[in-house]
Amino acid sequence: MKAACVRTQGPASNIRLEEWPTPQPGQGEVLVRVTWSALNPIDVYLRAGTIPMPVPSPFIPGSDFAGVVEAVGPGVTRFKPGDRVWGSNQGLLGRQGTLAEYVCTHEQWVYPVTPGVDESLLAASALTGITAHLAVFDAGQLRKGQRLFVTGGTGGVGSFVVQMGRIAGAEVITTAGSPEKIAHCKAMGASHVINHRTENLKEKLAELVAQKPLDVWIETQREPDFDCMVSSLAPGGRMVLIAGRTARPVFPVGPFYVKGLTLTGFAMFNSPAERQRHAAHEVGQWLAEGKLKVTIGATYPLEKAAEAHAFLEENTLGMAGKLTGKVVVKVS
Ligand SMILES: NC(=O)c1ccc[n+]([C@@H]2O[C@H](COP(=O)([O-])OP(=O)(O)OC[C@H]3O[C@@H](n4cnc5c(N)ncnc54)[C@H](OP(=O)(O)O)[C@@H]3O)[C@@H](O)[C@H]2O)c1
Repeated sequence: MKAACVRTQGPASNIRLEEWPTPQPGQGEVLVRVTWSALNPIDVYLRAGTIPMPVPSPFIPGSDFAGVVEAVGPGVTRFKPGDRVWGSNQGLLGRQGTLAEYVCTHEQWVYPVTPGVDESLLAASALTGITAHLAVFDAGQLRKGQRLFVTGGTGGVGSFVVQMGRIAGAEVITTAGSPEKIAHCKAMGASHVINHRTENLKEKLAELVAQKPLDVWIETQREPDFDCMVSSLAPGGRMVLIAGRTARPVFPVGPFYVKGLTLTGFAMFNSPAERQRHAAHEVGQWLAEGKLKVTIGATYPLEKAAEAHAFLEENTLGMAGKLTGKVVVKVS
């Protein structure tokens, strides 16, 4: 099979297209012919070697996929050859990834394609859609009528958080970096959008929450401002962290406990498979019903996987602001 592979962790140019043996499914595993893959920031960190998670050597990056089941190993009960499927959780925790014509994975990480939903959109929704669902409904425990704030409303996770907030019946406040992105956030259901490039977030948010403070804050940036978060939340409010491995911010302990706030965080790939399956099911249903939309910002062929990685890195780490939506890769 053709695979985009990394022999030495480092810059995107280290990704090379190679010929690999097609993997064979073991106990409980499904072999999927990958049609679409999608990129996420963690693929960049793992390819670059900037987070302490061991990868196989050589390594095929890529978490998300959509495709068709080619073969199943012993003990597989949910799938058979020919089934159209999608999923995430690949290319991490020592597993090979999805920037290859085939991926072999345990059936617990595989979901049936929701009828009527384009496979490229499911691949584009996998890691970010499941993460947003876990953040909004599990960690955030968002309820109807509440006020939710999320940073980066057009980002991979942020755009789903905005829409799931709307689906939950909450009021959503978010940030974006251009007038076009602000309009996009409003079209997705945000009631207020702060321009993080031209406005002072702290001041603007203080005005917005003066009458009605926030109930849930979902932070997608790597440097959380806890003074701003704690002062913007109502008593009993919840803060959810999903980014910022190296951040060591100042924390306002007194106001935090006096208000009875909760701070929680999670990594999607450590969440139980059952919980992720439930999230994936709802994401698929909401995409089919048109309640949820995913924007594809750039599409690359497998042969240009290195360019795709460089483009994501420029935007997600370099904050170039040239990307609205997901970067997807057409594999086969
Ligand atoms: N814990 C987990 O399980 C988990 C899962 C998924 C992702 N993550 C992490 O979550 C983070 C976001 O992931 P993603 O896929 O959503 O990334 P993304 O698609 O690259 O989105 C990044 C967002 O950040 C916004 N942004 C940039 N600078 C900003 C600033 N100064 N203030 C406010 N917003 C700013 C961008 O907005 P503009 O383009 O409008 O400037 C963009 O919307 C990453 O660090 C990722 O590693 C964690």
